[in-house]
Amino acid sequence: MSESVDARPSSRVRPHELPASLRDPILVNWIREPLDDAVDRRRRVIVPPAAAAMGTPVSAYQGALLAEAGHADTVFMMGDNPALPAMPERPALRDFFELRFSNIARSHLPQSAKVARENGLDEKVIMACMLHDIAIAGLLSANHGYWGAQMVGPYVDAEVAWAIEKHEALRYFPDESVGYTYPQAYVDYFGPDYDPPEYIHREHQAARRHRWYMTSRLITINDVYSFDSAAVADFGEFEDLVGRNFRQPAEGLGFDGSPVAHMWRTMIWPNNFL
Ligand SMILES: [Fe+2]
Ligand SMILES: [Fe+2]
Repeated sequence: MSESVDARPSSRVRPHELPASLRDPILVNWIREPLDDAVDRRRRVIVPPAAAAMGTPVSAYQGALLAEAGHADTVFMMGDNPALPAMPERPALRDFFELRFSNIARSHLPQSAKVARENGLDEKVIMACMLHDIAIAGLLSANHGYWGAQMVGPYVDAEVAWAIEKHEALRYFPDESVGYTYPQAYVDYFGPDYDPPEYIHREHQAARRHRWYMTSRLITINDVYSFDSAAVADFGEFEDLVGRNFRQPAEGLGFDGSPVAHMWRTMIWPNNFL
């Protein structure tokens, strides 16, 4: 075990038993003290969403964070978090890539699209590659294929959304007839003995019988599992493709009244208390 791992507090120590010197930094991560850019000089508390806090030491601090708002100089974070770049009034897909997504996601998605383009694939497949992990990039990692498919559903061809949803299951299962083997990255991530849950096996079987199977399979084939940040690709290279294959709403993503507008608003204001 490396030195840096040894230096971390043991996970067997319950959070409330940690010395104050370790507890306080945990709280500090979620409380934004007023900085020069805070017009009203109030502290702003970010309460991490349940899906992020559950099962982690942070859940032990929910009560303490809620109590903070009782101070006269403290409110919960609502609206723009000054730590994030401001979004335009009518955000487009490109704004989410450039102003919200992490560096890894910002390059992983265009990299996969680039590989698909170099392989001479259909625009629908390239578009699906460009969006396949969009939920990990901006919203949630667990069930990312399903979240991602819903997020883009109103704006892309039904086949693209379907392919994004099904890549969730297909990536676990080799299809040697088209050259897809189980990714070494997953052996590293999940261990050599990982077996996905039963519903994923069922989803895979059903997807293989579907007429759009190959579109989704091609996402897994063109997925760049290396996450090599040196392999440069960015959104700009696919601006035209996105223009042809993504129906950008005039009101901006998040404000078009679509059934998924709230997902885009959550990425605009990810720290809103409610
Ligand atoms: Fe994925
Ligand atoms: Fe991916």
